[in-house]
Amino acid sequence: MGTFSTSSGLPSGNTAISGLSPSTERAHPLVQVKNLRKEYTTGRGKLVLFEGLSFEVAQGDLLAIVGQSGAGKSTLLHILGALDTPSGGDVYCASTPLKTLSTKQASSFRNREVGYVWQFHYLLPEFTALENVAMPLLARGLSKAEAGKSAQKWLEQVELGDRTDHRAGELSGGEQQRVSLARALVTQPKLLLADEPTGDLDGGTADLVFRLIERLHQSHHLTSILVTHNMALARRCSRVLRLEKGRVEELHPQEV
Ligand SMILES: Nc1ncnc2c1ncn2[C@@H]1O[C@H](COP(=O)(O)OP(=O)(O)O)[C@@H](O)[C@H]1O
Ligand SMILES: [Mg+2]
Repeated sequence: MGTFSTSSGLPSGNTAISGLSPSTERAHPLVQVKNLRKEYTTGRGKLVLFEGLSFEVAQGDLLAIVGQSGAGKSTLLHILGALDTPSGGDVYCASTPLKTLSTKQASSFRNREVGYVWQFHYLLPEFTALENVAMPLLARGLSKAEAGKSAQKWLEQVELGDRTDHRAGELSGGEQQRVSLARALVTQPKLLLADEPTGDLDGGTADLVFRLIERLHQSHHLTSILVTHNMALARRCSRVLRLEKGRVEELHPQEV
């Protein structure tokens, strides 16, 4: 995969870029969204969730996507991670247009380029923390010993080095979310996508998980996109996009 040579040249779409920080303008975009549209055909007719969405996410951005429930945030995140397909428009990741990927290539893209964290961790409760974190590497064809070694290292990075042999189902909610963060990053993706990663946690635990995300984002030079309804956490991100009524608007993090 190549990189973009310039961050200009995008159709302006409907994105208000008032809050774009100077650092964002200088950095290369990892993700480009152009004129994106998503609609569903339901029993009651056509539901246009969003249309004409255009924005970029620069390498190193820690971007929060906020907006009311039902605004389409999860759908947008799924499209960015090649877990869903748009009804129109394009998403480029490191200059690769996602719509050109075959099913097999999309699967490889998801395994190699993107780490996902969900509101509900989706760990396998009967398996240990170590086995859960090792799974994406086993899916890649690594040996059990190699996968286990990396999983151990990543569990230490989320401060769970002493919980590796615990079954996932026996861990606390915050610990489970830290395991899922380790599982998302064990494949060393460029892009971290997280959908309400702290939405199911109490305030103190949410803060701990968010601080880990911030720290790993920095230390591993990630580009991270987090959907959150927690405005205190959104304010700590480098950028904030609000998705509302099918449009995106860039906000100053201090304004949210
Ligand atoms: N497969 C589908 N068919 C029809 N409508 C859907 C489908 N998936 C999601 N929706 C609708 O799209 C809207 C946005 O969903 P979602 O992306 O989950 O929003 P958010 O994450 O912002 O709460 C919701 O109203 C939801 O009911
Ligand atoms: Mg959602």
